[in-house]
This record gives sequence, structure tokens and C-alpha cells, in this order.
Amino acid sequence: MLSKAQNDLVTQCGPGTPGGKLLRSYWQPIATDEEMPIGGHPLPLKVMDEELVLFRDDKGRLGLIGLHCAHRGTDLSYGRVENGGLRCLYHGWLFDINGQCLDQPAEPDDKKFCHKVRQTSYPVQQKGGAIWAYMGEGQAPLIPDFQFLAASEEKRMAFRVIQHCNWLQGLESSIDPSHVSYLHRLSAGPVDGSLPGSNARMFSEDPYPRLDIENTSFGVRIHALRKMANGENYLRVNNYLYPNGTTPASSEPPPVSGYQGRWYVPIDDTKHARFEFVYQHKKLDKEGFAKTRNQNVAPDLRHVRRMENRYLQDREEQKRDDSYTGMGRHAPTHDAFAIETAGEIQDRTQEHLGSTDIVIIEVRKALLGAMKQMQATGEAPGLLRNPAQNTFPDFICTGDYIPDGEDGPAYCRRVLGVGPGGGPNKVAAE
Ligand code: FES
Ligand SMILES: [Fe+2]
Repeated sequence: MLSKAQNDLVTQCGPGTPGGKLLRSYWQPIATDEEMPIGGHPLPLKVMDEELVLFRDDKGRLGLIGLHCAHRGTDLSYGRVENGGLRCLYHGWLFDINGQCLDQPAEPDDKKFCHKVRQTSYPVQQKGGAIWAYMGEGQAPLIPDFQFLAASEEKRMAFRVIQHCNWLQGLESSIDPSHVSYLHRLSAGPVDGSLPGSNARMFSEDPYPRLDIENTSFGVRIHALRKMANGENYLRVNNYLYPNGTTPASSEPPPVSGYQGRWYVPIDDTKHARFEFVYQHKKLDKEGFAKTRNQNVAPDLRHVRRMENRYLQDREEQKRDDSYTGMGRHAPTHDAFAIETAGEIQDRTQEHLGSTDIVIIEVRKALLGAMKQMQATGEAPGLLRNPAQNTFPDFICTGDYIPDGEDGPAYCRRVLGVGPGGGPNKVAAE
């Protein structure tokens, strides 16, 4: 449970708020590469309560500038890409990718003042299939070279989907190890009564995992250990990444094929974009992933099953032993149901946390601690400024069977070949 003041701190994203300042200290994904092809159209975006337009100029260079024209506010995303920038349709003012006004054709030559006019603009970079923006103050840090972002293209792909609730509800669903035993129960395999290869067994046979949490250079590592009916010990290792990222391992029997990186980027305080970076150790079946995604995400980038249609819940389907929710088998849809129905901004003064909510508690502490650290030192935790340190030797994301008597932290030390806090990143190596 949080106080009202704490809940405000961890959920607000606007400019000038402590949470907004923290989020802005890191690069944030704002669109996928797919959405911004060379020759594509300007894309209006709202990011952390700021209205922006992402565009490519006529040389193909990316720019992220304020949505409303500095002249009299018209929406620039309707504008024309030409003459080295984006031209407003209202009176023809032209802005380059840095927001600099290059031309004011409606002004007589001796009255032009375009050198004095500049739109808000932010630096952007492409990485891991997405376009990232740095909206903070001062010098931008590095975008982290996590394996799922830096791997060769055939092993990864990126999606985004828009969810109608505060970003922290999304993050908290992704770091929550225990909900998988319920919400996603029997979510693998076809909805036809048969369950070949279902992941359910690993999660449903032990409904309350033993949890161990360790602080790392990049956030928090989460170990969830379950005892299977046949005596095997199933360990799932996921991560929280400062300040709004997570990596959940694929929920399949070991050896797992990969995992996902996720970022929950606020659109405003009551909506967010969930970025999904799918990564597999071997070549990724991109067509298969895209097909599943297109079946479940509508052209407006929201889930097909959404609050307005009560997530198309089918009570008959729910009576079968292969459906817990009655909402199909797409796990991200289940998550959307769970987080959106908690309210636009969950009132955490009213919740009752249990022992398996320890990860939620620790991550909230980490977020509040990061805000305090920023206030005291001006620097957020885990920011990377030295390329030589952009390596993450303590990063691991996997599911595995482990020997009796071993716990999650001991397993990670054994597999990574290091003590806590450093060493070669064997698991993350290509
Ligand atoms: S409002 Fe954009 S040029 Fe006038
Ligand atoms: Fe989930």
C-alpha cells in the first residue's frame, strides 16, 4: 500500500514532476522502425504528456519536434516533408529535424525572423528495432546494449501496443511472478481442449513461488522458484530495468528459446505504450510472431479485446479446463485486462499486498529511491556514460530446472560464472 503522495510520485510523468524527471533521464522507445520507413509520413506521438511529431526529412534523417507549430499552433503532423524539413500547412513555416525554423514564406523578406524561432526538439536514435528519444536535461546517457537490443536483426523484433491505464500498472504486471499461475493459466497451445506443450504445468503445479530479489547494476533481478509435481525445481529469472523496463523469460519448458524486453512508456498519466522487444537465441520466427500480434492488436494499436467490449469474455469458454479467463490465449491481452480494469491510475491506498507481492514492493522502493537520489545528486541510478561499461555482466533472463538445495541467486552465480556484481556475460554472449 502506498500513501496518496507516494502514489502520485510513482505514477506522474509530466514535465517537472519527480517521476517525469526520472523517466526523462533515460532514453525511451517512442515508435518502432516499422512505423517510420524511409519516405514514410510524419507520426504524431504523445510521450510523457508532451505532444510531439516524429518525422523523416527529405534526406531520410529522423527528427522529433513539438507537435504544434511555433507560429500559431497548427498540428505539424499534417505537414509537408520538403526543402530539408517539415512544413506547416497553415502559413508554410518550415522546421528542420532539430526544430529550427528555416523559412517563413508568409513574411516579407525584410521581416523574416526564422533564425530566432525554434520548436521543442529531442534527440532520437534507432536501436533494437525501435526509435528512442532522450527527453531529459543535460548530456544524454548511452542506450543500454542489452542482448535483446544489440543482437543481430534475425533474432529480434519490436512491437508497440497502447494500453489505457497508468504505465506503472503495466510494469507491475510484468514484474509480478505469481500472477502467471492464474491469469495466464493454460495460455499456451490451441483452444481446442488439447494442451500439447502447454506451459501451464510449470506455473499451475506450484501456485506460490519462492522469491529472491537481488539489486543489480541495471535494476533488480527477480528469481521465482517453483516445485513441480514430479519433484523438479523450476526457476524463472526475470528483471526490472531502471526505470520503466522489464525482461520476462519465455514461459515454456526449459531450455527456453528466449525472452522479451519490455518498456512501459507513458503517453500521459492514464495511458501508456507497451514496447515489446522479442528476442530469441536462435533465428526468430518473425512471421509467426507478427501473425499472432496482428490477430490480437487492432490497427489503432490497442488490443482487439478491450474494456469497451469487456475483453470479449466468453463464459462458455471459461468453463473449459483450458481457459482460466475466458478471454482467449493471448497473454498480453490477459495482462491488459488485469491492469486496465484496476482503473486509469490504480488507487494504491486501497490495496492489500501479500507476501508474494514482495517484488512489487521492492520495485516501488527502487523507484522512490531513484527519485530521491536524483534530487540529492542530480543523477539517476544505472545511467551509462562510458561505452566500456555498457556490457551488463550480471544480466540473465531465463527459465531452468535447478538442483535440489540451490536457490535462484546461487544458480545465477553458477551460470554467469561470477559473484554478485560482475564478470563475463556468458549467458548474454551471442
Ligand atoms: S501556424 Fe504554422 S505556419 Fe502558421
Ligand atoms: Fe502477465
